[in-house]
Amino acid sequence: ASAAVLQDAEKRGGAARGGPPAAVEKLDLKPPKGTRDVFPEDMRLRNWLFGHWRGVASSFGFEEYDAPVLESESLYTRKSGEEVTQQLYCFEDKGGRRVSLRPEMTPSLARMVMAKRKSLTLPVKWFSIPQCWRYERMTRGRRREHYQWNMDIWGVSGVAAEAELLGAMVTFFERVGLRAEDVGIRVNSRGVLTEVLHSLGVPGDKHTATCVLVDKLDKMPLEAVAGDLAELGLEETSVKRLLEVMELRDMGGVEAFLGKESPAAEELRKLFALAESYGISDWLVLDCSVVRGLAYYTGTVFEAFDRRGKLRAIAGGGRYDALLESFGGEALPAAGFGFGDAVIVELLSDRGLLPKEAGPGATAVVFGWDDELQGAATEVAASLRREGISVDLVLQPRKTKANFKHATRVGATYVVMVAPSEWEAGKVSVKDLRTSDQKELPVGEVASHILAGDVA
Ligand code: HAM
Repeated sequence: ASAAVLQDAEKRGGAARGGPPAAVEKLDLKPPKGTRDVFPEDMRLRNWLFGHWRGVASSFGFEEYDAPVLESESLYTRKSGEEVTQQLYCFEDKGGRRVSLRPEMTPSLARMVMAKRKSLTLPVKWFSIPQCWRYERMTRGRRREHYQWNMDIWGVSGVAAEAELLGAMVTFFERVGLRAEDVGIRVNSRGVLTEVLHSLGVPGDKHTATCVLVDKLDKMPLEAVAGDLAELGLEETSVKRLLEVMELRDMGGVEAFLGKESPAAEELRKLFALAESYGISDWLVLDCSVVRGLAYYTGTVFEAFDRRGKLRAIAGGGRYDALLESFGGEALPAAGFGFGDAVIVELLSDRGLLPKEAGPGATAVVFGWDDELQGAATEVAASLRREGISVDLVLQPRKTKANFKHATRVGATYVVMVAPSEWEAGKVSVKDLRTSDQKELPVGEVASHILAGDVA
């Protein structure tokens, strides 16, 4: 509301009566559709999750990077019919440039790698936790903004890169208490499809678009995409053959279909052998129906899923060796994954694995008896903070009972009371909430007692 509207309303007496001025439209308390407010308790959960992501990434020797959330729209306008390119939050900025909020991190990462290509020491192993924006239909675990843990390796052409990425993903699952009975990771290679398409006489330049269409079979009936497949040169018999390949669930079947010499089969065999060394074989499932919807994947593709089948994909990734070329650069092998914050929280909540509610977590609550002693309480709080103790200082006098209630709510271990007669004697009362022991201590000794964890 403008100042004029407010003045108008005040003149009519709305504000004077204590209620909102009549002419002021009440603020819509919901954030824009598809977005979330992050209240402190939500933020604690987010920090817990991100902490695990960062912890795993560092324990695998990955370095963190970031990029702007606003990018040139052209970074995403690939022409392979991918869903994500139709879900852009894009607009023209005041300088007439077409820009977009990022729907994913990989194109930004590719731009950054391309920009520093000459000075980078390969392999590059980088991670980030960007907020991504996609204008999509919202369902359980699908939102218009989400955070996505990205782990990427550039400069490694063999499946050791994929194995390392899968190893990191499983390490995360284990650290948050999930087991191979809860979560699986479906693995495939687009090479399998490519080899079949090749044998069916489908020209190479149609393979990517075919993969993007095949991915849609997950959500749509075959009849809905059959026309588009035919346009790419896949007649009914070819489609039938493709569908047969997609049914395959074991290496024997893949080898029987493609022949033992098949490079895609060889790659998958190597990957599963490495998975043994990582000790993650129980988590992996070969599944030739997995293609992933992004156009740029060129080899291995994988997705983590809830074994009870209730939720959407938990995470997805794969090899994308040709992305730099598509941006006019020199090819550089790459593989990575994106792991969203939505589905995993649903899953952890279903399994009772979310951390218990913890308060803000100050070690001590300090309060003064009355207004007169606010300065003294502040002095005590400041001295404790200088010793590295986290202190929640009560800023307005209130009843002692309320202060204790507050201390319990924030999860404090100690309450420090600054009362008149004690303060005059250079002392304060310190109560240990675990044992209910209370003691008068010289002000100068409070910090060391708290640090020693003992005031009794
Ligand atoms: P993506 O398969 O589009 O891949 O997304 C990866 C993951 O991000 C999904 O499995 C899901 O966990 C999460 N995600 C995506 N969209 C949403 C949404 N609307 N709401 C909630 N979560 C979502 C990529 O984005 C690739 N750039 C990943 C990658 C990195 N590939 C190589 N490096």
